[in-house]
Amino acid sequence: MSEPAPKKRLYIKTYGCQMNVYDSERMADVLAPLGYGMTDDAAGADLVVLNTCHIRERATEKVYSELGKIRELKEARAEAGGRMTIAVAGCVAQAEGAEIMRRQPAVDLVVGPQAYHQIPELIARSHRARGERLAADFAPDEKFDALTPERRPTGVTAFLTVQEGCDKFCSFCVVPYTRGAEWSRPAGDIEAEARSLAEKGVREVTLLGQNVNAYDGVGGLAALVRRLAKIPGLDRIRYTTSHPRDMDAALIAAHAEVAELMPYLQLPVQSGSDRILKAMNRAHTAQSYLRLIERVRAARPDIAISGDFIVGFPGERDADFEATMQLVREVGYASAFSFKYSRRPGTPAAAMPGQVAEAVKGERLQRLQTLLDDQQRAFNARQVGRTLDVLFERVGRNPGQLIGRSPYLQGVHANAPDRLIGQIVPVRIDGAAKNSLAGMLELETA
Ligand code: SAH
Ligand code: SF4
Ligand code: F3S
Repeated sequence: MSEPAPKKRLYIKTYGCQMNVYDSERMADVLAPLGYGMTDDAAGADLVVLNTCHIRERATEKVYSELGKIRELKEARAEAGGRMTIAVAGCVAQAEGAEIMRRQPAVDLVVGPQAYHQIPELIARSHRARGERLAADFAPDEKFDALTPERRPTGVTAFLTVQEGCDKFCSFCVVPYTRGAEWSRPAGDIEAEARSLAEKGVREVTLLGQNVNAYDGVGGLAALVRRLAKIPGLDRIRYTTSHPRDMDAALIAAHAEVAELMPYLQLPVQSGSDRILKAMNRAHTAQSYLRLIERVRAARPDIAISGDFIVGFPGERDADFEATMQLVREVGYASAFSFKYSRRPGTPAAAMPGQVAEAVKGERLQRLQTLLDDQQRAFNARQVGRTLDVLFERVGRNPGQLIGRSPYLQGVHANAPDRLIGQIVPVRIDGAAKNSLAGMLELETA
């Protein structure tokens, strides 16, 4: 394919969840026809996009401090007679809108997560005048209709958004306010995008959604997984993030029956205390969650379970926290994400009594993370001596080494020739650390 050399340079910095990673790629796709090519050098960029996250206070503050730095680059550029456009996209853009430009006047435009297809037009407009620059109020179907299925994948794995938004309204969370109500893409569009990825060498897709298992096409996420599993060349399918409430029997059965569906499940629980779960508006109990895990394990005994946790939610007492520790011991996680509760203005929990002191949150988080780290190490150590299928993704740090992923999403490094990038290869695991495994090729592959 011959493309004109890019005349303009685009720098995108991505914060937050994988949804944002996917959206950043799509923004690059819509800007490419306008002559924008990616650069890693913010100082030399014509267009800087910060794709932001609002989930915790610190995530939002990081964005403003980065904007301060980009502003200096913009000024330096202007002094040298150049021009830099600064765009803020993502969940801070949606939540704070024009407020961002008041706090950081160097920002030229603010664009919410449902309006990325409008970026080219917004940029043109911001160059022309200082008129209407906000685009934060569009429906997701317009966004996806306007983004063509043509993707430019850069590797052998790719994200694919199938569902957006959330209307669960957990009392601590901003996502229902930044991403809007749950909305699912038509299965045909998703399949077209997946086929296009597979034709370009992608072997593994991760289906994304704020509540991906709430995917509401015919037959739900299970039917979508089965449909995508038939695409030639697409050998691995993953999905994230799931809500316990939407984990239905069909999806559990798919874990037993669909070989392409990888044995990994991120199923956030947030707390092991029913009292706190109720205050969080999570709609599951510790027991119902444990029963669900049992059913998933009955279908796929070796599945790697991952989860999200919040400590120090308002009103959390020692006994509630101990209930979380107990639940963790009962589940045995392969990996996890855990956070101190962060008070988000406008969410119901922000106004709840019994806000927990930072020091207490810190102690609890440390204890929880020690336990979760031990479990992760133990899960990894159990793979030693086994032979796992590894999809090699890229060259490693040491010469002759490749890095890939096991079915359980563990990073695996092994000495292997470059030609195996993009191949799924049996690797005998002979070492395990907290974050990765080491192995050797089986003789017939090497
Ligand atoms: N939809 C997913 C999670 C999306 S947000 C789910 O329901 O599990 C990712 C994670 O950020 C959450 O699982 C939660 O653990 C954490 N999180 C969200 N809001 C938070 C807050 N106010 N303070 C601390 N952690 C938060
Ligand atoms: Fe946030 Fe809850 Fe929705 Fe997850 S399910 S995105 S935690 S409101
Ligand atoms: Fe953050 Fe928005 Fe994702 S708030 S976690 S970027 S949905």
